[in-house]
Amino acid sequence: MSTFKDKIDISRLPKHIAIIMDGNGRWAKERGYDRIYGHQNGVISVREVTEAAAEIGIEYLTLYAFSTENWGRPQHEVDALMELLIDTIEKETPTLNKNNISLMAIGDLSRLPLEAGKKLKKCIDQTAQNTGLKLVLALSYSSRWEITNAILNITTDIGLGKLTQSQINDELISSYLTTRSIPDPDLLIRTSGELRISNFLLWQIAYSELYFTNTHWPDFRKESLYEAICDFQNRERRFGK
Ligand code: IPE
Ligand code: IPE
Ligand code: MG
Repeated sequence: MSTFKDKIDISRLPKHIAIIMDGNGRWAKERGYDRIYGHQNGVISVREVTEAAAEIGIEYLTLYAFSTENWGRPQHEVDALMELLIDTIEKETPTLNKNNISLMAIGDLSRLPLEAGKKLKKCIDQTAQNTGLKLVLALSYSSRWEITNAILNITTDIGLGKLTQSQINDELISSYLTTRSIPDPDLLIRTSGELRISNFLLWQIAYSELYFTNTHWPDFRKESLYEAICDFQNRERRFGK
């Protein structure tokens, strides 16, 4: 049986794949469970997709794990998500090292509970020397937060005389975003059927290919990622030219 993996042209891989992991709550509800059960199962997909990306040689994988707006969810759900985050990061650090994967994080990390922030930093430090896949977690992230922050920092630097107005261009703005060391996504995936961006990487996805699937995140597996990559490879990117 031929698989999507076999159809991928390894010489034309997307360098950076970003994913809006959506549908955990609906997945659980359809099975008569609490939303938290969906988040727990979503972790299995995170593991699978990370492994799949590393296996074929993707350079950057960004996962939208928690948005600035998600702080507005019921407290017990926020708490469960934070606990799941700490647990997973701690448990997965050896596997990340084994697979030569380094962890990075983008977002307003100062809002994370102290313990979560510490464990996150520890895992980032412990995997920093790895040279394979870069796994970027978007945590307490929103694009408008990021852009607002960039404008604040640019105007501050102008005030301090470190920067002049005439230096402001596309590249300079990119360098003030939390994604400064990360290339723009080539492919953006959203699971679970919603056709929106929900405040994710608005600046960075200017020319990304968008892929939407009805599959809920806890059902998204290695072959689902490979299918999205095959779809991407059938597109013609023109960049306005
Ligand atoms: C995505 O699943 C996970 C997070 C946003 C943390 P949801 O929790 O949004 O699940 P649905 O969209 O309500 O089904
Ligand atoms: C986007 O999903 C945020 C994450 C996947 C972390 P949401 O479920 O929060 O977004 P909306 O509410 O459907 O737009
Ligand atoms: Mg959702």
